[in-house]
Amino acid sequence: MVNLVDKRRRLLTTASLAGAGFLVGLRAPSRTFAAGSSKKFGQEKEVGAVEDLMREHGVLHRALLVYIEAVPRLRANPGNLSLEPIARTAKLFRSFGEDYHERKLEEAHIFPVVKKAGGAAAAAYVDVLNAQHDRGREVTDYILTIAGKGSIGTSDAEPLARAFETFVLMYQNHTAREDTVVFPAWRDALSERQLHQMGDKFEDIEHRTFGKDGFDDAVKQIAEIEQALGLGDIAQFTAPPPRA
Ligand SMILES: [Fe+2]
Ligand SMILES: [Fe+2]
Repeated sequence: MVNLVDKRRRLLTTASLAGAGFLVGLRAPSRTFAAGSSKKFGQEKEVGAVEDLMREHGVLHRALLVYIEAVPRLRANPGNLSLEPIARTAKLFRSFGEDYHERKLEEAHIFPVVKKAGGAAAAAYVDVLNAQHDRGREVTDYILTIAGKGSIGTSDAEPLARAFETFVLMYQNHTAREDTVVFPAWRDALSERQLHQMGDKFEDIEHRTFGKDGFDDAVKQIAEIEQALGLGDIAQFTAPPPRA
């Protein structure tokens, strides 16, 4: 039988961080991760089930940021918006977000437990969250259809901009509630051992679904999309100083 603890250990590599665009051009520091830890940078670290879910949200948030950045471009000059990276974003949201994170993890393993044992407040969320998954899939179908046309007609520009805005607002609310209400309720409903087993199960599902580390690949894909749209440099998003 496979040792669950060993199996849950993943290698946090400088390559995966560079794929996220954080460490390009930087040398890996040779410091320990935390005071009192004997582990050095680049050694194996365990990723828990809830951290797994939340970092998957991080990938989805970066896809939402691509959509929201596309809105002013659509309204100013729709012909100038490159549709190829938009189509790639929608395909990533479909495969990594809707088909894997939502259907194979949340709907199969998290929502049923929360509905049954997570308390009234958390259970009340589940029906809405399921409905939002369904609506999200409708919107993604629409985005893929428009992006598949190759160019945006003037009649499609405003409906697509509105679809991006409402999709992003829905998913910002959706993932924030999952992170702060639903996932904590799910964790509280499980024993430490069950939680560990679920983390192991999630990793198996990820590898069965993608045939590799789906998270690392998704981070690489979204980083490439950001580069294609000129959104790769995070420094451009630093807020200006407030005016007195
Ligand atoms: Fe969800
Ligand atoms: Fe989620």
